[in-house]
This record gives sequence, structure tokens and C-alpha cells, in this order.
Amino acid sequence: MLSVVEQTRLKVSRRTDAKKKSQLGQFFTPAKTAQFMASLFTAQGNWDCRLLDAGAGIGSLSSAFLERCIDGELRFKMIKVTAFELDSLIHKELNDAFSSYKNILSLDYEILGGDFIEQAVNNIQFGSGKVYTHAILNPPYKKISSNSLHRLLLRQAGIETVNLYSAFVALALEMMSLGGQVVAIIPRSFCNGPYYRTFRDFVLERAAIRHMHLFDSRSKAFKDDDVLQENIILLLERGGQQGDVIVTTSTDDSFIDLITHTHPFNRIVLPSDPERFIHVPTSVECNAIELSSSIHCSLEDIGINVSTGPVVDFRLKEHLRDMPEPGAVPLLYPSHFNSSAMTWPQAGMKKCNAIQRNSETEKWLYPNGFYCVVRRFSSKEERRRVMAGVVDPALFDGATVLGFENHLNLFHENKRGLPQALARGLAVFLNSTVVDDSFRRFSGHTQVNATDLKQMKYPSRTTLIELGEWAMQQDELTQTLIDNKLGTLIA
Ligand SMILES: C[S@@+](CC[C@H](N)C(=O)[O-])C[C@H]1O[C@@H](n2cnc3c(N)ncnc32)[C@H](O)[C@@H]1O
Repeated sequence: MLSVVEQTRLKVSRRTDAKKKSQLGQFFTPAKTAQFMASLFTAQGNWDCRLLDAGAGIGSLSSAFLERCIDGELRFKMIKVTAFELDSLIHKELNDAFSSYKNILSLDYEILGGDFIEQAVNNIQFGSGKVYTHAILNPPYKKISSNSLHRLLLRQAGIETVNLYSAFVALALEMMSLGGQVVAIIPRSFCNGPYYRTFRDFVLERAAIRHMHLFDSRSKAFKDDDVLQENIILLLERGGQQGDVIVTTSTDDSFIDLITHTHPFNRIVLPSDPERFIHVPTSVECNAIELSSSIHCSLEDIGINVSTGPVVDFRLKEHLRDMPEPGAVPLLYPSHFNSSAMTWPQAGMKKCNAIQRNSETEKWLYPNGFYCVVRRFSSKEERRRVMAGVVDPALFDGATVLGFENHLNLFHENKRGLPQALARGLAVFLNSTVVDDSFRRFSGHTQVNATDLKQMKYPSRTTLIELGEWAMQQDELTQTLIDNKLGTLIA
């Protein structure tokens, strides 16, 4: 029967235009991923099951769950499914999927149109509350703007979040009975995004993370729909005592090369991390950074800070200048940095090289000096996610202030430059392969936020300065040279 649903998925996906798909987040789960998700529910006693499928689409996920019941892997006296689906045009397909199981299982189901968020909040506030024993979700993804009705409704249920996907998971968790299991496939961005801090708290306070699955390739989960999003599959247990976490990986949705490891929870959420980033270690070996006793300092310990470049170019358009000119000061973009050096100004570059200094721009400018900068965005093809460079004040003859554009993060000391050796030492450390490996454990996207850099651990200020002094004596800093040097530091 699952193959019938799979045919329907392909048919409906072909007939649905791209605009509607993106408006409703209508990307249906392929059968193999749905089966894998359903396989994560642990078998329980012979009682009644209340399954929630929020944003049910054509029922791919519920069908995979019901198949496991038919196979006897999950046994219940009675199953009641509640499927929420906003798009009434696919209710027929959804109904067909459920009705095909009616004769085989002791099954009851309801399909509810309208908005899940509205109905769930209403249910939490005034209804029967914690009713579900199981939830299987592939929610829509879309930003929730700060003054939207959704944001307001969610706030009434005690949920502060910024995307439909996290809202769906939070609401589902809130409606689970004690011991209830939620399996969801969602973007990995909540693991470290600064805006997802309250969502992480919400989940970790209410549930135990039992299992996490990652696909090695970011395009693999929804490849028929060209969704380029790194996704994670989670199994959460409402009210569960947090213990070890199973982490599986596979190259794609064939799951033929599934690798399974179990990790203590303190490797998933580091006890010392106030941001509660969720790390997804993909091997049992600890990362060299985790193991090293010489890399344990926070930026506060080192006496420095990291911020996002404050010059948002489209807001200051009228003040930008292609090339340096009287009255303008240097403006730095990621394109001024390549792997080994900084080149400024660059004629013919798409971006500007300078910004007018005046009363409107003054507050966005930093004093000229040495800074370590890290690109906020890298492309998928680039070998490292974390790419650092050094700003050398000698390049900007006579300039007393500099503009840092918003696509850069910059390390500074109380909004001033750093000692040269410290800036260079930070860049060496950040450009090492071990830092990149460690970064990938908590970040699934190519973006590097200032919050990410803030929560990382660093060598001491003295060690960073030594690293910088060493770097200044090298003719050329190759990756091998950097990695070997870091190797001696970590050993
Ligand atoms: C990513 S699709 C997943 C569908 C299905 N769960 C699956 O895995 O194939 C999300 C579904 O949620 C529906 N949806 C979007 N916003 C919704 C809302 N506010 N309430 C209920 N359903 C919604 C969309 O129409 C879409 O079918």
C-alpha cells in the first residue's frame, strides 16, 4: 500500500506548481525516508495509540507508521489517527491512503482541514491537551514574522519561535502524553541558530532526545523536489529521562550504508554551553578540540569579542563608493580576502571598496587596526566552512577608521583592533582542519554566525599570541603547515 502512496506522491508533486509548493511547504516525504522514520518508534504495550500527523500531505508518514502496525512490529489495541492538512485539494488522496488500511487494522481516523497552529493552540488552551501517544511529522518550513497571527497564537501557548517547522514540533510535543514519542524530519538549522535558542530550551525541557539521523548529502532527503536543505530526523520522548543518544548517518535515503553510534548526552549538548547548541557527532572518536586540554578558553577569558560586520550595504547605499576617494574610508567585504591574503582596493569588483565617513555612517565604523575576520557565508564547494583572514592596518594608508560589511564577522577588543600577533594567531587557529571538523558537528549550514564563534573554545590568549608570532615567521601558510602546527598544540 505504501507503494500506492508513493505513486500518488510523485503524481501530486508533478501536478503541483512550484509556487504552491513553496507557499505551503508542500514537499512530501519519499517512501524510504517515511519507512525509516516510522522504524524509529520503539514498540510499546498493547494499548490504544493516538497518532498525530500534522501537515499530513497525502499521508506518506502515517501510512509508513500503519505499515509497521500491519507487520506486527508495533502492536496496539486500537489506532486513532488525527491528520491536519491545510490544503483541502489533497484531502481526497489523504482519505484514500487511510481508508485502504481500514479493513486490515483496528483504525479510526479524522482529517482536519484548516490551520494546525490555530487548532493546536486552541486545544492546548481549552481542549483535551495531552492526548497523543505518537506523532510523525514533516512540517512545512517558513519564517513566522514577529507580528503575525501565528506568532501571537504560539505565544499564548508559551511557544516563542521563528519558523513553522519548530512551531509544529513544539505544539506536537506539548500535546503528547507522558512517554509519547515524536518522530520529525526538520531542517538542522535549529541545532545552532541563535534564533532557535528558546526552541532548543523548549524541547530539552520537555523531552529526551533518543535518536538523531543525518544524511551525508544535503540534497538527498527530498531530491525529487530539489530541496537543498540539510535535514535531521529526530526521535523525542515526552518527559523521558535523558540518556545516551543514538546517532545514525547514511549517504542518502537508500539507507544501505547506515552507520550507528551511541553517544553520551554531554557530547550532544555540552554542559558548559549556555546556548545549548545541539551537536551531531558522526563518529565515536572525540574531535581533537574536544579532547584537548589546551583549548578550553572562552572569548571572555581571552578578553576579546566577536561581532557581525555592522555595515549593511543596502541600507547605506547612498554612502557607498566604488573606489577610495576623499571623505571616504575603506569598506571591507569577504571578497577582499582570499585564502592567504587581503587585497584592497579591488578595481572592477562587484562590491564597493569605500564608504563615506559622515554623521550617518560614523556609528558603524571601527578604528583602523589589526582584526581577525571570518566570512559568514561559504559556498558548498569550499573545503572549509570556517574561513578566517587578517586585516592589516598598513594597507589603508592614513585611514583612521574602517567599515566591515555585514557578510563578515570580526574579532575585536572592546570595539578596537587586536594586537597583531593575536589577530594572526586567531586566524591560524580558525583556519585549521580540526576547528572546521568541530564546527561541522553543531552546524549543518554553510553560514558561520557570530554566536557560533562565541560559543567555541579557544587556546589561551598567550598561546594564540605565540601561534601568531609563529605565523609571522612563515613565508607561506599552507593548510598542512597550519594543521601540523595545531597538531603540536593539541598533542
Ligand atoms: C513538508 S509537507 C509534508 C507532508 C507530509 N507530512 C509528508 O511527509 O509527506 C507539509 C504539509 O503541511 C501542510 N501545511 C502547511 N501549512 C499548514 C498549516 N498551517 N496547517 C496544516 N497543514 C499545513 C502543507 O500543505 C503540506 O502538505
